[in-house]
Amino acid sequence: MGSSQESQLRVEPLHPTFACEIHGLDLSNGITDKEFEQLQKAVHQYGVVVVRKANLPDDHAHVDFSRRFGEVEKSKYRNPHMRSLPCPEIFDISNLDEKGEVVTHSNEKRTTAIRGNALWHADGSFNPRRTYVSCLRAVDIPPKSMGGHTEYADARQAYEDLSEEKKAKIKDLVAIHSFYHNRKTANPDSPLFKDINVMDMPLARHKLVPIHHPTGRPMLYVTSYAHHIEGMAIEEGQTLLRELSDHAKQPIYVFEHHWESPGDLAIWDNTAVLHRATSGDYEGKHRRDMRRTCVMDSSPDAYGLNDPDLAKNQASSS
Ligand SMILES: [Fe+2]
Repeated sequence: MGSSQESQLRVEPLHPTFACEIHGLDLSNGITDKEFEQLQKAVHQYGVVVVRKANLPDDHAHVDFSRRFGEVEKSKYRNPHMRSLPCPEIFDISNLDEKGEVVTHSNEKRTTAIRGNALWHADGSFNPRRTYVSCLRAVDIPPKSMGGHTEYADARQAYEDLSEEKKAKIKDLVAIHSFYHNRKTANPDSPLFKDINVMDMPLARHKLVPIHHPTGRPMLYVTSYAHHIEGMAIEEGQTLLRELSDHAKQPIYVFEHHWESPGDLAIWDNTAVLHRATSGDYEGKHRRDMRRTCVMDSSPDAYGLNDPDLAKNQASSS
């Protein structure tokens, strides 16, 4: 617990338009209301907040901390190729198998998921109720020179920089999202996905340009789960999605976070930024034990154009 209720946390910007590091926040004994207020404000303003050595002691503390942001999603789907972890709210983002050993390329179920997460996305955009904040905690990381970084794209700035003509053309469009579209794109030859027709699977409808309500800034919600645009020929919609995605992932909008130590924490707002995992030489060799919680969105765009009843049974799987 922070000793002084009056203390201001030090916020250091990490990129010209978004992302910051917060210094002096040790979460090993929880967080004060005052500290949380400053942290949430930074998450909204910067989209991404890095806390080095946040030191959340375990999965339970990680979940309790995440609850400060709202309703924490449960990982209903944990396949037999994954470790058993004590809290259903913890999503296993590690490269470890059910025995806690580093996965190899022969483990199709896990490697296809890892490749999917390497495409630009917002967590949970394929769900009827989308994800607000994600909290990703490093438990074990590979040697620094061997990759495994996380990249973020400033999707609010990317929207702002579009021409007025383009903004007018896309502002009222709706994208149709599918979990399987991401997996098929990332793994075109995998027997797990190649015979799946995305249109036969659960689909979610979300605005292409939702407003980030805490700041009032629109964002480009162009995630790799977005399959096509409602009311447009499939090809035409996919071409537009590709064009907008290429725009948003330009180096000028990207910040790459290098994990430094176990205990480091990254918190991002999926209703403001996009992100992706990057590959590295560590794969197949070194442990990368990352654990994530997701907080459900409660903003006016939380359910997009979906029936809120559908969200009651949404299968969270990524
Ligand atoms: Fe993700």
